[in-house]
Amino acid sequence: MSGQFKRLLVTSALPYANGPIHLGHLAGVYVPSDIYVRYQRLKKREVIHICGSDEHGVAITIRAEKEGVSPQEIVDRYHASMKESFQRLGVSFDNYSRTSLPIHHETTQAFFLKVLEKGFLVRKTTRQLFCTKTQQFLADRYVQGTCPYCGSDEAKGDQCEKCGRPMDPLSLINPISVLSGERPEIRETTHWFFDLKKAQPDLIEWQKTHPEWKDNVKNYCRGAFEEGLQERCITRDLRWGVKVPLEGDEGKVIYVWFDAPIGYISSTKEWAIAQGDPDLWKKYWCDPGTKLVHFIGKDNIFFHALMFPAMLMTHGDFILPENVPAFEFMNLEGRKLSTSKNWAVWLPEYLEAFEPDPLRYYLAYNAPENQDSDFKWQEFQNINNSHLADVFGNFVNRVVSMTLRYFDGKVPARGALSAEDEKILELIRTMPETVGALHEAVHLREAVGMTLESARAGNLYLQEQQPWKLMKESPERCGTVLNVSLEVCRALAVLFHPITPFTSEKIWRMLNLPGRVEDQEWDQAGIPVLEPGHALGEPVILFRKFEDEEIQKQLDKLTVSEPAQEEDSGIAPFLDQQVAYDEVAKLDLRVADVLEAERVKKTEKLLQLKIRVGKEERTIVAGVAQYYAPEDLVGKQIIVVANLEPAKIRGIESKGMLLAANDGERLTLMMPAQPCKSGARVL
Ligand code: 2FM
Ligand code: ZN
Repeated sequence: MSGQFKRLLVTSALPYANGPIHLGHLAGVYVPSDIYVRYQRLKKREVIHICGSDEHGVAITIRAEKEGVSPQEIVDRYHASMKESFQRLGVSFDNYSRTSLPIHHETTQAFFLKVLEKGFLVRKTTRQLFCTKTQQFLADRYVQGTCPYCGSDEAKGDQCEKCGRPMDPLSLINPISVLSGERPEIRETTHWFFDLKKAQPDLIEWQKTHPEWKDNVKNYCRGAFEEGLQERCITRDLRWGVKVPLEGDEGKVIYVWFDAPIGYISSTKEWAIAQGDPDLWKKYWCDPGTKLVHFIGKDNIFFHALMFPAMLMTHGDFILPENVPAFEFMNLEGRKLSTSKNWAVWLPEYLEAFEPDPLRYYLAYNAPENQDSDFKWQEFQNINNSHLADVFGNFVNRVVSMTLRYFDGKVPARGALSAEDEKILELIRTMPETVGALHEAVHLREAVGMTLESARAGNLYLQEQQPWKLMKESPERCGTVLNVSLEVCRALAVLFHPITPFTSEKIWRMLNLPGRVEDQEWDQAGIPVLEPGHALGEPVILFRKFEDEEIQKQLDKLTVSEPAQEEDSGIAPFLDQQVAYDEVAKLDLRVADVLEAERVKKTEKLLQLKIRVGKEERTIVAGVAQYYAPEDLVGKQIIVVANLEPAKIRGIESKGMLLAANDGERLTLMMPAQPCKSGARVL
């Protein structure tokens, strides 16, 4: 159905209501989606933009615990402030809902029951990590550790922050409870699993119909299909969330990533009610004439391109996404953004110092479209001062001011057109189609570049025609040049509207045109309409230049605050729990010879070792590559836990784990002080 659709349903990833909006959110999701939607509205398409706060899950409860308040207090606070920030930046959602609302809980529970009825939910007793100190199961981000795929030590129990893979907490290397800092133990509990494995063949067939998707999404999915999709646990032993609607499952809630995307549906329902037509949401979600587009960051690909589509397919009543434009990440001054280390630019703070449009423009111009990009304050200043103030703003201001000065603020009559006049008029006539095709394909950077080209062309035209000189020699010709230039200003107001809506509106007022820019038609943007004699409004400065001092002030705010260490020495605290000798004796520690060692491809931290334990040869994968080169280890003896359950790490079966001391700075391998027989037991 690509290309042919009756209406558009655009969603933006629901941000967790656990902190203010920062530029990472904006660059990766909300600025691109808002630009796309504003463009579609000007195209007069039937479109709605749906979003809301993601108010469940461990992201919220961890924040609440840190602050010593209830999860409800956290989500109430941040939902209100996020909603306000979005509005102030001009992010124009048709509905901004929240997942703690009853309408969302009901919608999620009904969805769950439908998927159960369709035979896609399986109940299983599972082994999960349990924090003995706080007496609770460690769902998702309550546990942290080393990623078995890429070796990053910033992996959370639900997903690795670095490589984006979904995580089974049990596969984390060196798991640590976020609640107590202790190593959790494994206990059994019963949960519901969504049979994603069963959905794989249908997902593969469906994705074949979308060769036009972005490479990052297609590659991610291809990799996931090759590895084979697995059943996914979709319930949790938590109190905060949507309750599992089944007897016998009291005390369990639905996993946040099962409920959050359903939030798009419940937010649309809420919108329909506000429109006075409660069934209107069905037109968007159930009619195949709707094109559903999910704007997301790259860390959300799994849930939007695989899990949620599988849920929608299984449910059966809903359409599937037509596109999932996933953006990469935006770094800040060359470093990965980190909210916990306060290495971020927070939207409310930005808005205290600057206007919204320069940020929208810069984030779109520098969008992390196909690769990560970098926010640099100085570049932000340069782009504002050159593109926006010197080119776009300056052009419009000069044209309006000269019209005021020379023609009493009235649109001058247009005389015979020169070849240059024709050329610029032709350019603005064709711009809507040229830029439109780029917006349509979500080629944001190019769309911004091409939009700026129209302003550059206007500036150049003015520079060449020099109406200030013409006024003395031929006022009539000067009038024609200003008439043409005013048409260009009008076209710019429409063309720039998706990117800089506040500025576009100011131009509209300066031109004293009826209605609002958002009511105009994109395709008509370059068609001349100004009547000679039409009186303009008051000129205003569109963009001020940013001074070095105010930029320096922002740079000065950026000092990394490292989270407090457990102990300054870097030595982990003693564990409280005592262990009986019998428990210790269960560990089969052995001396092993390292026969071969090599780096695991595409990882920084992992080494693959071939070892001999007595007569047996084995492979183990160890996260020590930062401290030992492969050649340092070959021929050495190490100590391994020989009876550790085998685990697949980066597709390699690892049988055993080596012992190493961690002093907070480096890992030091435990080696016998003198040569020892291979396979000797250590106790
Ligand atoms: O990654 C996040 O911030 C999630 N809150 C996104 C959820 S998107 C959707 F599924 F609602
Ligand atoms: Zn990883």
